[in-house]
Amino acid sequence: MSKNFYVTTPIYYPSAKPHMGHAYSSIVADFFARFKRNDGFSVQFLTGTDEHGLKIQRSAEKQGMEPKEFCNLISKTFKDLSKTLNLSNTDFIRTTEDRHIKSVQNLWSLLEANGQIYMSKYEGWYSVSDEAFYQEDEIETKDNKKYAISSGSPVEWVEEESFFFKLSEWEKPLLKFYEDNPKFILPESRRNEVISFVKGGLKDLSVSRKTFSWGIKIPSNDEHIIYVWLDALTNYISALNYPNTNDDLYKSFWPADIHIIGKDILRFHAVYWPAFLMAAKLQLPKRVYGHGWILSGDEKMSKSKGNILDPLEIIDVYGLDTLRYYLLKEVSFGNDGNISQDKLESCINSDLANNYGNLCQRVLAFCEKNCEFKIPTHNFTEDDLKILKPFEDIDKLRNLIDNQDINQYMSFIIDMLFASNKYFNDQEPWKKKNDKDRLNTIVYTALELIRKISILLNPVIPDTSLKVLNIFDISKDAFSLEQVKDHNFLKKDIVLKKLEILFKKIDK
Ligand code: MSP
Repeated sequence: MSKNFYVTTPIYYPSAKPHMGHAYSSIVADFFARFKRNDGFSVQFLTGTDEHGLKIQRSAEKQGMEPKEFCNLISKTFKDLSKTLNLSNTDFIRTTEDRHIKSVQNLWSLLEANGQIYMSKYEGWYSVSDEAFYQEDEIETKDNKKYAISSGSPVEWVEEESFFFKLSEWEKPLLKFYEDNPKFILPESRRNEVISFVKGGLKDLSVSRKTFSWGIKIPSNDEHIIYVWLDALTNYISALNYPNTNDDLYKSFWPADIHIIGKDILRFHAVYWPAFLMAAKLQLPKRVYGHGWILSGDEKMSKSKGNILDPLEIIDVYGLDTLRYYLLKEVSFGNDGNISQDKLESCINSDLANNYGNLCQRVLAFCEKNCEFKIPTHNFTEDDLKILKPFEDIDKLRNLIDNQDINQYMSFIIDMLFASNKYFNDQEPWKKKNDKDRLNTIVYTALELIRKISILLNPVIPDTSLKVLNIFDISKDAFSLEQVKDHNFLKKDIVLKKLEILFKKIDK
């Protein structure tokens, strides 16, 4: 089995500053990247910005700026956000970079050479906000204005000469591909949506524009620029040095293991992207996962609705790891989720302060008082082996992650936190002062539990889990998922380090 893993986030439109929805896609992708890295995989993790198209051109014009100058500015805020979110991305791609432009033009020429492109005229609806074409039956009229039903974005009528991609030819091959690869689109409900869309019939797709200029030129006709979604989707291979398909990066990491995206951009990733790749005779990604929206109240957060919860503000007040924990645990992955200050504070108190924080603090305090703050000796009994046993089945956890079952993974951790706190209570080491051997073993077992849980929590709360692992002198890159199985990992001579309070309880 290949020990390479390639995960991507959508590349973000730098049309306005980043919000919680962007942070969510990125944090989820980072979670998978970190889990796989801890499991010994070589991980390529890509994020970036999607900088061409009318949407960006108009945003720049509004600010009285040149598009490139505008993109430089906003793209930087996304790059900074990657750092603020502690993303472990290995690359950050901008679609205005030469490596990407070369890659898109090459893919275009290949599609042309394969007879997949022809010139015609586009007449129809277009949403600049979604950068998407809509059919008549996908449009509704409100107050005499036309909107896309799925996104609520305004649409405008477009009539212009355009190159078309023969998407209709790929209807049957796509349906066969979905059938042969039942887990290509997840979650299941989204897969069904896509299949019924494709079964409804695919029309050829307009893939060039000539009434504005902010984009990548078609190599054979510089009056046209390439449709921004064909441009943007190609980023996933540009970053692997496509068109050099003999390049090590490309050979090792394409096809991608998973594209993490929001449900609103499923059609582009699960229909257009595989069709482009099939038409170019390139391999298809292994999975596209369309997550739900983060809602503020009951509405999708967006700038136009004015209900954005700024991730930076939340991080400022509550810290990054709490936000990461909340999004990964409280949102049922694949469905829409809600975020509010109240729910965030409850989550900090119950899970982080009372459960994980409490386990670490009380065990360490007891160890300091009774075992000279050293790893004590141990002689396991049945009770100890019983509490340690669930950590032996690492394949079960690997399986959960390979099926993107983040919630079951989190449940396992939380169950083990409760069980560990209960174990320490029930064993009552404070009553074993006359049985040093037993007292030592209870402390040892509890320390092992803390170590194991901290490794499992590392992809979720990287900084905090490292602080805890550090008390055992285990540093970044010096631990692995495999070590979770080992019940005798901690060595006798280690002197523990002090641990600061991990999460402060919030008065509500
Ligand atoms: N540029 C395109 C993606 C191109 S990928 C080849 C794009 N950009 S975006 O900035 O508008 O959105 C990026 C991602 O953020 C999408 O996956 C979208 O679903 C996600 N989110 C934007 N708002 C969101 C929420 N409120 N909640 C969760 N995610 C949402 O689309």
